[in-house]
Amino acid sequence: FEKTTLKIIRDKYEQGTALTAVTAYDYSSAIHVDQADIDILLVGDSASMVIHGHDTTLPITLEEMLVHCRSVSRGAKKAFLVGDIPFGSYESDDEHLLKAAIRILKEGGMHAVKLEGGGNLRVSSVRKLNQAGIAVMGHIGLTPQSVSLFGGFRPQGNNARAAVRLVEQAIELQDAGCFSIVLECLPDCVSAAITSSVNIPTIGIGAGSSTNGQILVYHDLLGFLQHPHHAKVTPKFCKQYAQVGKVINDAMLHFKNDVATGVFPGALFSPYILKLHEREIFV
Ligand code: KIV
Ligand code: NA
Repeated sequence: FEKTTLKIIRDKYEQGTALTAVTAYDYSSAIHVDQADIDILLVGDSASMVIHGHDTTLPITLEEMLVHCRSVSRGAKKAFLVGDIPFGSYESDDEHLLKAAIRILKEGGMHAVKLEGGGNLRVSSVRKLNQAGIAVMGHIGLTPQSVSLFGGFRPQGNNARAAVRLVEQAIELQDAGCFSIVLECLPDCVSAAITSSVNIPTIGIGAGSSTNGQILVYHDLLGFLQHPHHAKVTPKFCKQYAQVGKVINDAMLHFKNDVATGVFPGALFSPYILKLHEREIFV
């Protein structure tokens, strides 16, 4: 098989082939994403919400992100692996950021990092990371690490001034060296304006159909969390391609019922009977 490299991503972009990206957080989800030949696998800090159960992406630590990165890198062999730099790792100084990014590559086994936001500080961070030999993915629009500033998870870029600023930020991030930019929760026309203003691939989530690719969170794509009190973590713009949560719930109840009624393990799954079967086969 062929490993997805930045060159392959670049070639697909230039050929106009839509790029696919999905998040994963552990060994088994990484295998699922990898086996489907998804181009980019993101170990997102959305793990804070869908894995750790926090209300935002802010509480997850670098150490926790590294555990997810290492698990994913053991399962994914083909996808281009990107690790989110968690909140609190790049706000203070570039030295801090550089150390975090290096750990995500060296210890986490990722091929690149992603950081949120635009503006002078981010632009300088992207430059520093590139100088250190680290590929960087940008992320603008609804940047969940800034939820405190936004006052909730709400769509961005819905006035002309904000839209113009987003286009400027995208160009600045590109010029600083980002290989791609995630656009989250933007009107289609703003995504289209950004996508046509840069010559690196834009990957959208809740950002319409004008981007060069799409990304979804693993659990949202699969319909993993189907319990009413978990509804808050599945954004409206996510298409659910399965109801895996329902499959799991049903299987759990089935197991519970089988044990209660003695159907499981029963005769068929008793180790002694299995041995007899093996002997019958092998003798
Ligand atoms: O953490 C994440 O899952 C992300 C994607 C939604 C882009 O940043
Ligand atoms: Na993220």
